[in-house]
Amino acid sequence: MKLWGGRFEKETSQLMDDFHSSISFDQRLYAQDIRGSQAHARMLCRQGIISQEDEAAIQAGLAAILADMEAGKVDFPASSEDIHMHVEKLLTERIGDAGKRLHTGRSRNDQVAVDMHLYAMATCEDTLGLLKELEELLLSLAKKHASDVMPGYTHLQRAQPITLGHHLMAYFEMFRRDMIRVQHAYDAADYCPLGSGALAGTTYPLDRAFTARELGFENVSGNSLDGVSDRDFLLEYLSAASIGMMHLSRFCEEMVLWSSLEFGFVTLDDGFATGSSMMPQKKNPDAAELIRGKTGRVYGDLMGLLTVMKGLPLAYNKDMQEDKEAFFDGRDTWMKCLHVFTEILRTATFRTANMYASANAGFANATDCADYLVKKGVPFRDAHGVVGQLVALCLSKGCAIDELSLQELQALNAAFDADVYEAIALKTCVAARNLIGGPAPERVLAEVEAGEKWLREQ
Ligand code: ARG
Repeated sequence: MKLWGGRFEKETSQLMDDFHSSISFDQRLYAQDIRGSQAHARMLCRQGIISQEDEAAIQAGLAAILADMEAGKVDFPASSEDIHMHVEKLLTERIGDAGKRLHTGRSRNDQVAVDMHLYAMATCEDTLGLLKELEELLLSLAKKHASDVMPGYTHLQRAQPITLGHHLMAYFEMFRRDMIRVQHAYDAADYCPLGSGALAGTTYPLDRAFTARELGFENVSGNSLDGVSDRDFLLEYLSAASIGMMHLSRFCEEMVLWSSLEFGFVTLDDGFATGSSMMPQKKNPDAAELIRGKTGRVYGDLMGLLTVMKGLPLAYNKDMQEDKEAFFDGRDTWMKCLHVFTEILRTATFRTANMYASANAGFANATDCADYLVKKGVPFRDAHGVVGQLVALCLSKGCAIDELSLQELQALNAAFDADVYEAIALKTCVAARNLIGGPAPERVLAEVEAGEKWLREQ
């Protein structure tokens, strides 16, 4: 008979067991579930609600079940419905009546909530660790490439010269914001719902603050209805995951572009690429493409859970069981992608000579050339026109601006002087963008230093 079977005359159908059982996926909550029960039992005993002998038997029984689960010695049959009932059933089989006292003053509704809070908090900590590792790598790469010139783009057209270090630090900023978002998701999860009961608390004199402290929570949830039916913390994590995946996906898109023959800006390690069964020359950036592709599924997890929650009346509804696969899939995917991406980046080789050549050939210094004329007294709009004509001339000749002779330059505007070549050299152009947030190597190194300090404090 089911643990809740008292008022039923018939067994649930096999079809129903298969349909509503969540144990195939919520078994991964076993450690949180057992920890929650241990804290609850300790509190029940302190409050005189269960005896010390019962509490001792419960603690020993739960510890043994945990050890067996960790050792892979326990089955998780669909008939047990969910991890909560399974642990209780195993406990009662092992220690008898004391096991039946564990659920005093508790419902599966606050039990599953506390499990998810604990699991989400651990997930946030693990995700922060992965993001931190990626950030450390980005800082070291940015430092190494602080002076390596590459073209910066808008509309995917070569625009102005920047450095590879500057480009990498843009991603450092994105992942830094991701870390802050994950920290917020942690803070949202850091409320202990245990003691909310099924929906309206309980008449037992529970010490909710004690249980919360035992489980490492900073706060106790303030409303029993909300305690059992809040899933915002999962949504906050999934939205952080969606934004984080979007950042990874953009970076991956650049890896895909940059590793093409057309760009030639990066060579991906053989360990993170694959070949073609037909075309012998192919080396495909599959890992980066897959991360780009998996971004959609994390968005799906977020949209799925938002949609599950949108129509639910207070308090718990079984719909909420759907939170688990969405959350588990979202966190597994994001964490795996962070891990894989960090290794793609760690093992990639940046082809800085090609980046330089591309910046040089792409008129990335055209703005600087116009600015040069402005400094010589030419109005900016006129200077813009002159350099536009220069670019047209270069295109017809197949050369860069600084490959034109001084005569050719002066034929278009008399303000050009011999110092123009130094002024529009790519290194000069980059170094001159020396303001907060700019690509000048000095500024990039300052940002790296600030980033290192910030990361140390996390
Ligand atoms: N498996 C359920 C879930 O994940 C546990 C809570 C069940 N509560 C209930 N009243 N049926 O949501």
